[in-house]
Amino acid sequence: MAGNFKRLFNFLALFSFVSVACFVLVLFYSRRSFEQVAKLLAKKIEASNKSSEMAPTPSAVSLTLGPCPDNPPDLVGPLLVEFDFGRTWEHVRKEVSPLLQKGGRFKPKDCVAKQKVAIIIPFRNRHEHLKHWLYYLHPILKRQLVDYGVYVINQDGEGVFNRAKLMNAGYVEALKEYDYDCFLFSDVDLVPLNDRNLYRCFDNPRHLAIGMDKFNFDLPYKTFFGGVASLYKHQYLKINGFPNTYWGWGGEDDDIYKRIVLRGMQVSRPDLLTGRYRMIKHQRDVHNDPNPKNPDKLFQTHWTMNADGINSLKYTVKSIEKDILYTFITVDIGSPE
Ligand code: UDP
Ligand code: BGC
Ligand code: MN
Repeated sequence: MAGNFKRLFNFLALFSFVSVACFVLVLFYSRRSFEQVAKLLAKKIEASNKSSEMAPTPSAVSLTLGPCPDNPPDLVGPLLVEFDFGRTWEHVRKEVSPLLQKGGRFKPKDCVAKQKVAIIIPFRNRHEHLKHWLYYLHPILKRQLVDYGVYVINQDGEGVFNRAKLMNAGYVEALKEYDYDCFLFSDVDLVPLNDRNLYRCFDNPRHLAIGMDKFNFDLPYKTFFGGVASLYKHQYLKINGFPNTYWGWGGEDDDIYKRIVLRGMQVSRPDLLTGRYRMIKHQRDVHNDPNPKNPDKLFQTHWTMNADGINSLKYTVKSIEKDILYTFITVDIGSPE
């Protein structure tokens, strides 16, 4: 009996010892794994803190930025515009360059612009005018919260000038660079007198320069479409772009107006106070005399527009220069046939 009791006692003692040993072992390992988990967590937290200290990537920014407001808050309305001939390029560059990217590009930094606007300027030998245009327009466009680029399309050589063909070339060249959805065409000598005249696109092709000082701040005639105009890409394509065959001064803007109406669209305009402009006074340029053939061509727009436009455009690029204030593209557009 006593032997049995002793055996039972030994068995219980061994069992308790093994249980305690197992318990200690489990405790020891579970503590280690707890420490490991804690260490891992601490590492993760440290890493995420570090990444939030780093500059956010552009894609991360656009994920969090909201769309730009339809009525940009920094617009001031009427502007004082004076073409001070003492204004130097150095001064313009210093005033206007901040926040611009090479090639005359800008994007609002606190919101996502709703439109990507290519600004196309037909050009030859008007550097003095370009200086004033850049001086006034860049600050206005920045306040208007536009995602934009400025493309000066320079006609190569001394041949007859062709404004509309240069604008077609500008459309093609700008699209090679960025996914623009809106195209704004501006003469180099026109500066708006009100920053509420928005340089963007609208439900219909837009004529912006409705009240030029040289026309007593009024339209010279009801269907005038000259100076500054904007079209969405799809509106521009609907009219087969602009005519390539208006060499010399006059008529090409009237042809564009006709194309718009013939394709069932209307022309959108600001009101007469908002649409005021100042034009830098100038003589008619050489190789840009009024072309007597141009007015007659307007009777044929309804059928010429199908074959004369973006679908028949031919030109060659001679050079592309990237300034901080603009992209300057020299093109050979040929001569009248
Ligand atoms: N232009 C140019 N160089 C020229 C002729 C014309 O740069 O030799 C461009 C410039 O953008 C100008 C636009 O074409 O503003 C329209 O020409 P212009 O100013 O002579 O026409 P206006 O509307 O004054 O009659
Ligand atoms: C011409 C247009 C020009 C307008 C105003 C018209 O006779 O055809 O090209 O813009 O006059 O000068
Ligand atoms: Mn002019």
